[in-house]
Amino acid sequence: MTKHFCSLAIRYAAVLFTAGFLLVSCTNEPPPTPKDLAQEAIIPRPVSLEATGSSFRLTEKTKIYVQAIYPDLEQLGQELADMLNPATGLEISVKKTDKVPGAGHIYLALVGDEAGLGQEGYQLEITEKQLTLTANQSAGIFYGIQTLRQLLPASIELGEKQEGPWEIASGTIVDYPSYRHRGAMLDVARHFFSVEDVKRYIDLIALYKMNVLHLHLSDDQGWRIEIKSWPRLTEIGGSTKVGGGEGGFYTQEQYKDIVQYAADHYITIIPEIDMPGHTNAALASYAELNCDGQARKLYTGTEVGFSTFCTAKDTVYAFIDDVFRELAALTPGPYLHIGGDESHVTPMEDYIPFINRVQDIVAAHGKEVAGWDEIANAEMRPGTAVQLWAGTENAKMGVEKGAMLIMSPASKAYIDMKYDSTTELGLSWAGYIEVDTGYIWDPAAMAAAEGVDKNAILGVEAPLWTETVTNIKELEYMTFPRIPGIAEIGWTPPALRQWDEYKQRLGRQKARFEALGVNYYASPKVPWAE
Ligand code: ACM
Repeated sequence: MTKHFCSLAIRYAAVLFTAGFLLVSCTNEPPPTPKDLAQEAIIPRPVSLEATGSSFRLTEKTKIYVQAIYPDLEQLGQELADMLNPATGLEISVKKTDKVPGAGHIYLALVGDEAGLGQEGYQLEITEKQLTLTANQSAGIFYGIQTLRQLLPASIELGEKQEGPWEIASGTIVDYPSYRHRGAMLDVARHFFSVEDVKRYIDLIALYKMNVLHLHLSDDQGWRIEIKSWPRLTEIGGSTKVGGGEGGFYTQEQYKDIVQYAADHYITIIPEIDMPGHTNAALASYAELNCDGQARKLYTGTEVGFSTFCTAKDTVYAFIDDVFRELAALTPGPYLHIGGDESHVTPMEDYIPFINRVQDIVAAHGKEVAGWDEIANAEMRPGTAVQLWAGTENAKMGVEKGAMLIMSPASKAYIDMKYDSTTELGLSWAGYIEVDTGYIWDPAAMAAAEGVDKNAILGVEAPLWTETVTNIKELEYMTFPRIPGIAEIGWTPPALRQWDEYKQRLGRQKARFEALGVNYYASPKVPWAE
């Protein structure tokens, strides 16, 4: 009855009153709560933010409108609804539209060539009446949704209905990344991680707008991807792990499932097959890959630098061609990572022609090469990505030869390093990396110190090597809370990154980590908010 009266009244009164006045007068909603967008703890910190002091409230009437012409938007709208509905208990639905919706709704739209947003940027315009998320491309909409998540209380992450109200601080955010490569690397070779574990990690890094997951799929201790033309790689090479016991591997179907799940989270998978060293699992699987024709024993220790493919044998290149052909067919992303690190028993005069030949194989399968910084000793094809981990001289040489850089300096970005001397998990050969140490560095400044220009930097990546990390809870402990810091280094300009300010925002992630069930390290460096 009241509702009917209101809608009649609207018809007659529309000429006299504003719609906003009627919205307030015809509902029992209290006025919007004042909120300060500038006080929200968003990681990565947005590039620009203007607060207007009020808020937008989600109600039973809220709908998500998406521009009808872009199918991706309907899917993203549904993901947003799926994010909002469980904890709010609302039944927010997604509607396609050809025009900007009226008051009370969320609107997702692609706006074409909005200045400065680039391929991954977004703009959030939040008023009391409307929440509008725009971008040039769907990736930007996805990142805007991750920001929205962080503008809601941590309880939004819970699977069951929680107390509201559900209000989002008003203002405008214009945001886009500094670097196009913002990645995590997971070593599934030393210890194997299931498809479910990898998806969980994808969920967690996507929240911080990372867009690359590099999977280290082979090493001395294990071969983790099915190669149909060389089945013993997984039968034998995949059978064990560090410390012994059962290993594991991804079937090609499972790998494709990971690739698709990552793509749904705007994350590109970079698969790595490490060579010519770090190859004992392959050398144990096929005798012909060894110069002496003798299969190696499986290895479950943690030493490095003792194994090598026989770089003089054509069989080895035929093998690599088969492996990369199968992997390229399963991998939509641009890169295949060839490792190339720590080949201590491969003489340099063999290593260089080997890396050159492997690069040609990767290129023949239509992919770009990524590799650890040692590959810069070889020739560099245009488009090659050199991943700096230890050799700043290598990185510089790579750039001089035309390569781009992925910055993973071990002393800052290796999240398998212990936090301090008391950390039970992890290693310490690159030093202890407390949460502040892992945050306080700048890729461009580091490169500039070597005379390398910022424009040669693709981005940042945080590797998690798993000599000591055996399961998803341990993975979470080493990566959280360091991975949000690496994500921020990849996204936020250096002028907006100060540890004293960041640590406050990080401390306010505690409730969200807990709502998400993340097993994080409660570093004493961080003022964890109760
Ligand atoms: C590496 O840590 N060996 C790349």
